[in-house]
Amino acid sequence: MSSLSLKPLSVSTFTSVNPKGNLPPRCKSHYQTERGHQFDVGDTFFRRESATARDLGVLSAALYRNTTGSLRVLDAMCGCGIRSLRYLAEAEADSVVANDANVDYREVILGNLSSVSSSSRWEVNHLPATRLLAECYVRKDYFDLIDVDSFGSGSSYLRVALDAVKLGGLLYITSTDGLSSGGHRPQQSLAAYGAYVQPLPYCNEIGLRMLIGGAVREASVLGYHVVPLFSYYSYHGPVFRVLLQVKRGKSPSSRYYSFISYCNQCGNSQAFSWNELGEISCPCSTNVSRSLMVSGPLWTGPLHNAHHLTEMMSLAELWGWLGDGEGQNLEKLLKLMIDESDPKLPVGYLNADEIASRGKLNLPPLSAIMNSLYEEGYAVSRSHIASNAIKTDCPMVDCVRIVKQLQQPAEMSSCH
Ligand SMILES: C[S@@+](CC[C@H](N)C(=O)[O-])C[C@H]1O[C@@H](n2cnc3c(N)ncnc32)[C@H](O)[C@@H]1O
Ligand SMILES: [Zn+2]
Repeated sequence: MSSLSLKPLSVSTFTSVNPKGNLPPRCKSHYQTERGHQFDVGDTFFRRESATARDLGVLSAALYRNTTGSLRVLDAMCGCGIRSLRYLAEAEADSVVANDANVDYREVILGNLSSVSSSSRWEVNHLPATRLLAECYVRKDYFDLIDVDSFGSGSSYLRVALDAVKLGGLLYITSTDGLSSGGHRPQQSLAAYGAYVQPLPYCNEIGLRMLIGGAVREASVLGYHVVPLFSYYSYHGPVFRVLLQVKRGKSPSSRYYSFISYCNQCGNSQAFSWNELGEISCPCSTNVSRSLMVSGPLWTGPLHNAHHLTEMMSLAELWGWLGDGEGQNLEKLLKLMIDESDPKLPVGYLNADEIASRGKLNLPPLSAIMNSLYEEGYAVSRSHIASNAIKTDCPMVDCVRIVKQLQQPAEMSSCH
């Protein structure tokens, strides 16, 4: 196991921390293939379903390298090392520090990284991520991309990861805290992210907004601000992942760090800034205090940066990732995310089942509802988070009315 000295990591440091001696006993090999790379997962924690999350990270890393000319990566919880391998081979990282607290993974990681690159570009560590990140910060060894693929809320890594990332650099963070995003543990979400979260119909979008909001708060303590380049929910887990760009200075506006209200009576959602807190109400009634659920503060801005996603799409196409069998889902996902990036779209989405039950309707296809909303001048898109939902700035009450109108001609023609 390596011990880090207080000096910037360098080529010679990499060599010195890659000894093959004193390795733990070799575990059984289990080979997998991802984007043409064969690698061993041994007995490490590995999820094939996370391949798309790795695709998104690698595309973003490569774009960052193309723009800035440098890419030093810290993969703080690397498992078998597949991300490190892909950052080296596909994003052409200048160097990668692969770390996993579990020293029993060492031989698997070393074998996988050796297969794609000479050891002059990488090193392997087995420290608790917090300690590794803190040590990097202490010796002013900053990284272009820090990937923290953690279990649980991930919030305890935010501050140290922000400390160790370059200004302008990227932070790829993860939460698997589905109970907090579902509003089932408001005290826990308050402790982890500084957000009091109550149950909302679009809880999985809240999971992303809670994680971004937590990073916004931690960054502001340090005098920085963060903006999401993409936010990705995946149902296995569930897993909430966000790629943030870290920027110098306080956020120019606090309008995207605010509160969300949901009215159980009419299904309407609204965002409220801090100075509107005392005026929270719902257009459906003047006396809705019992039916209003308020959560926050959370990130209430766009979940993604459309320009970044468009560049990711172009690069994925260039690399042949869109046309092959593996890439079909990636193409669909990126298109959905680009649509979701419309700044006119507010927080949340309308679930088809909720529209149907509030309107006591059998719903027409979502595409027909979306066309009608669009013709009435509303912003509208699908959600990458919920396939049976619509993102729109149309309030629930108006959406139900529009769907009822949409059904009238069909009902009238069936009378003849
Ligand atoms: C979700 S898995 C990582 C999977 C990997 N990134 C991938 O894409 O296949 C999380 C990893 O973090 C490691 N881990 C857990 N707690 C840690 C800590 N405090 N510091 C560093 N590694 C830790 C676990 O051993 C596990 O391999
Ligand atoms: Zn209402």
